[in-house]
Formats: sequence, structure tokens, C-alpha cells
Amino acid sequence: MSSSNECSFTYEEYKETADWLQERIKEQPKVAIICGSGLGDLANLLENKTDFLYKDIPRFPQSTVHGHAGKLVFGKLNGKQCVCMQGRFHFYEGYSIAKVTYPVRVFFLLGVETLIVTNAAGGLNPNFSVGDIMLIKDHINMPGFAGQNPLCGHNDERFGTRFPCMSDAYDRDIFRLAKDAAVEENCSSFLQEGVYCMLAGPTFETIAECKMLQTLGADAVGMSTVPEVIVARHCGLRVFGLSLITNKVVMDYASEERANHKEVLETTKRRAVDLQRLVSALVAKL
Ligand SMILES: *[C@@H]1O[C@H](CO)[C@@H](O)[C@H](O)[C@H]1NC(C)=O
Ligand SMILES: *[C@@H]1O[C@H](CO)[C@@H](O)[C@H](O)[C@H]1NC(C)=O
Ligand SMILES: *[C@@H]1O[C@H](CO)[C@@H](O)[C@H](O)[C@H]1NC(C)=O
Repeated sequence: MSSSNECSFTYEEYKETADWLQERIKEQPKVAIICGSGLGDLANLLENKTDFLYKDIPRFPQSTVHGHAGKLVFGKLNGKQCVCMQGRFHFYEGYSIAKVTYPVRVFFLLGVETLIVTNAAGGLNPNFSVGDIMLIKDHINMPGFAGQNPLCGHNDERFGTRFPCMSDAYDRDIFRLAKDAAVEENCSSFLQEGVYCMLAGPTFETIAECKMLQTLGADAVGMSTVPEVIVARHCGLRVFGLSLITNKVVMDYASEERANHKEVLETTKRRAVDLQRLVSALVAKL
């Protein structure tokens, strides 16, 4: 991780990575999918795959978290040319926020038009159950409040404008398509929609923090996704996101429950196949 603390990259650096990939893939991807913790099997659904280990891709960051494979997989999902990140980069791993979002600009340079983000999240909304899938309709960028926005620093107009709009971060047309897909795929009984709040992690939330986030209007909380979404919107990609509710956050001092990563992985395993089906059906509709 010697180069993990780089805080900004030049257009030429992203371009070098994109060109290297471009020379090695058969077809241009139109959709990029970032697989959250334990959701990497989605990439296995791709047909006619070409894959690259992160460590072999020039300038690409590398994944360190348990449960992430660290591979970029190109191929066809339900008839659409896609690229899947099997393993994402988290701020809590020690990467700069620029490095966390590095792949998104590479996708943009490869001609990707739509970004699909998935994650595992804790449920704050009392109506949510463990195993629910939440369509993300908006986000709260907590690290951004503390000065950790991936667009801080010099703005390169070749990627996007200095002050990008975020009130339309999550594409409303794709959102509707996802709801249709959920009905067709028999996922309605565990489908929710809501606001995702990102915290930097790696600690899970205190009870007081959970109460605060709930008051602020967050329905789910996690440690990823928002930086990638911001960078994607900056360069004009359409974004769709979903959270798998892998645990319910503790809201009560009398509760004996404790947040743990094992519960997250177990729920993910149980619901991952449904989530894959849903994403696959959605991709066909794009
Ligand atoms: C995969 O590649 C084979 C051989 O090149 C081709 O016949 C087939 O149609 C491809 N499948 C898809 C889904 O593109
Ligand atoms: C929970 O569901 C009920 C009934 O649909 C609804 O009235 C209420 O607003 C929901 N609570 C939250 C926090 O979304
Ligand atoms: C849809 O899901 C319900 C409950 O989850 C199940 O009882 C039903 O058989 C499913 N239907 C189809 C067509 O898969």
C-alpha cells in the first residue's frame, strides 16, 4: 500500500489505466457494477468474461478487505456489455478518497454510461427487516461534511463541472425500472426504498449516532458507495444503487445485540442470489 495515500490523479493517469484495459477487452462496456461486501458473485453471471486482477492493472488500487476478490470482470450480463468490480475500495482501509473513486473515472473513459452500486448496510428505519433490499433514492455524505469529498482540489473540466448538481444523483427512470424488475422477479415482499448515509468507518455506530442519523432522515447506514456516486455524477454517468440490509442497528441501551461483521456476511450470503437476479433483470431493461 505504498502509494495508497495519493490524494489526486491527473487525467493522463486515469487515461493510462483506461487505455491499458481498452487494448485488452473485446467490447466496450456500457454498464459498470460495483459489488459490495459479499456480493461479488454477481460478476460470475457475466458471459464471455475477460478478467483482470487489480494488482495487474496499471495504477489501479488493490483491495484488502476480507470477502473481496479484487478483480475487474468484463462480459455480458443479460445481453448488455458490463464491467464488474469484484471488490471495492473503502476509505477505512487507508486509501485517499481519490483512490477509492479511481475506477469510476476509468469506467467513464472506457465509455460506460451507467453505474450500478451495491452495498451491505445497517437498517435504521424501524420498518426494515434484515434481508431487505433498499433501492437508494438519495444519500447523506457524512465524510463530505468533514471535508472528505472526492471532488476537493483542482477540477479537471474533461471530467465535469466545478459545482455538480447532486439533487438528481440517483436516476429516477432507472429507479422505476428497478421497481418493475422487482415485481417481475418476485422481490417485492422484501423491497424497500430510502436514504443511504455514509460514515467513514471502520467502527460501527454508537447508539447515540444511530439516533442522530435516524433523526436526520437516513434509512440505512454503511461505509461506502457515496464517493463513487459523486464522482460518477460529476462525469455524467447515470447512477442506480441498492443496499442489502444485513443487520438492524442497535437503538436501545437495554439491547444485548452487538453489530458484527459475521452477521453482515451471513445475511449477504442468504440474500445475494435475489440481489443478483434483481440487478440482472434491471440491466436487461436499461
Ligand atoms: C460468447 O462467445 C461465443 C464465441 O465467441 C459466441 O458464440 C457467443 O455468442 C458469445 N455469447 C454472448 C452472450 O455474447
Ligand atoms: C413505517 O411504515 C408505516 C406504514 O407504512 C409508515 O406510516 C411510516 O411512516 C413508516 N416509518 C418510517 C420511519 O418510514
Ligand atoms: C414469490 O415469492 C413468494 C414468497 O416469497 C412465494 O411463495 C412464491 O411462490 C413466489 N412466486 C414465484 C413465481 O416465484
